[in-house]
Amino acid sequence: MPAQKNEKMEALVSLAKRRGFIYQGSDIYGGLSGTWDYGPLGVALKRNIMQLWWAYFVDSRDDMYGIDAAILMNQKVWQASGHVDTFVDPLCEDMVNKRRYRTDHILKDKGIDPTGMTMQQMDAAINENGIKSPDGNALSESRTFNMMFKTHVGATTDEGAVSYLRPETAQGIFTNYKNVVDTFYPNLPFGLAQQGKAFRNEISPRDFIFRTREFEQMEIEYFVHPHKWEEAFEALLKDIHGFLDALALPKDAVHELEVAEEDRAHYSKRTVDIEFDFPIGREELLGLAYRTDFDLGNIQRVSGKNMEYTVKGTNEKFIPHVIEPSFGVERMLMAVLSSAYKEDEINGEKRVFLQLPEHLAPIKYAVSPLLKNKPELVEKARDVYRALKQKHGNVMWDDNGNIGKRYRRQDEIGTPYCVVVDFDTLEDGMVTVRHRDTTEQKRIAIDELVS
Ligand code: GAP
Repeated sequence: MPAQKNEKMEALVSLAKRRGFIYQGSDIYGGLSGTWDYGPLGVALKRNIMQLWWAYFVDSRDDMYGIDAAILMNQKVWQASGHVDTFVDPLCEDMVNKRRYRTDHILKDKGIDPTGMTMQQMDAAINENGIKSPDGNALSESRTFNMMFKTHVGATTDEGAVSYLRPETAQGIFTNYKNVVDTFYPNLPFGLAQQGKAFRNEISPRDFIFRTREFEQMEIEYFVHPHKWEEAFEALLKDIHGFLDALALPKDAVHELEVAEEDRAHYSKRTVDIEFDFPIGREELLGLAYRTDFDLGNIQRVSGKNMEYTVKGTNEKFIPHVIEPSFGVERMLMAVLSSAYKEDEINGEKRVFLQLPEHLAPIKYAVSPLLKNKPELVEKARDVYRALKQKHGNVMWDDNGNIGKRYRRQDEIGTPYCVVVDFDTLEDGMVTVRHRDTTEQKRIAIDELVS
């Protein structure tokens, strides 16, 4: 039986650290809350997810353009977008030790759903239910807390030098909309896609990589005729499900949530969140929002530059409306890892393995000689290793311990195939290829394997 809910989470976090996927950020100095570092296998898995996304949403389509904007942007971007005024979470404070908490999280942890509540209603719920801080002390009234990381650009620290680490990649897309229209003359509808870091000073980062202060987003701003937003919304929703299938996420763990008006971001007229059954419970994986002409309209108003699109061959002009699929890379990774995590029993022994789809696995083949003290086996295995590495890149040499231990180690990191060179190989040019999921072993000709 696979481990239960939080045990599974603990098993995942432990595996991620032990096997070089994900480490606590700044661990050596006691860590920095809400930051995580990616080890050799973690970065490989993360890149495979990001590359798949790019291939699926950008390279395979002719209505998408990629961009890569700067993280630091003129402060006017965040004034115009509404983030300076409204990108806030409700914060309350332990009256004794001054520790700070997200008020909605305090309620959620006590089994009260804060969905749709105003800050005042949350405070009332805390009072009515006699809820205390996790340390048992009274909580203060809530206030809003802006989540943007503020910094200064250059050597001065006056107001004019203020900038922010971007809290969403989206604004880098909106501010380049006109550049792309003027240089590529795309027909509507078209999308601009970007992948990159985003930063939020979360009051309470938690649940491993689920809620962090530095994370990556993969976002598309899809520009449409104002009357055609609904069909574009539905089409992108379908595409999102197609991508989640390509990640091999189980369909029955993926859910759509129509977000109520009071819970939508300030820019959205319709939002569908895609939720996923994580080991921590059902939580938001990504969002699809109808941002109307909110952003381009604000940019036009604040910058004084015309953001209208002219339909080719006509005089029809308008500010396009926008549909935005917004993916968090870390949440994708957590969904992929948690659905790949499996436990079974082989010959009476417990086995842990990651049933990752081949195209996502950080290592595709592990190659080893049956015995590492037999030079003729090592030499032949090295030849096979080099040939496979040239072909696939993500191939590992593994000659530590006995074969059984190597298989277990590779299972744990999700390597689909282990290739073993033995004495018969020297005679017949065939190797044993053992499959991770079935543990079935087959003899395959080297030529066939590497061709
Ligand atoms: N541009 C729209 C936007 O940023 P969002 O719902 O605030 O919308 C989009 O964020 C996605 O980014 C979320 O669905 C989630 O996957 C990811 N995300 C947001 N905050 C995060 C955090 N603190 N840690 C990890 N991922 C986060």
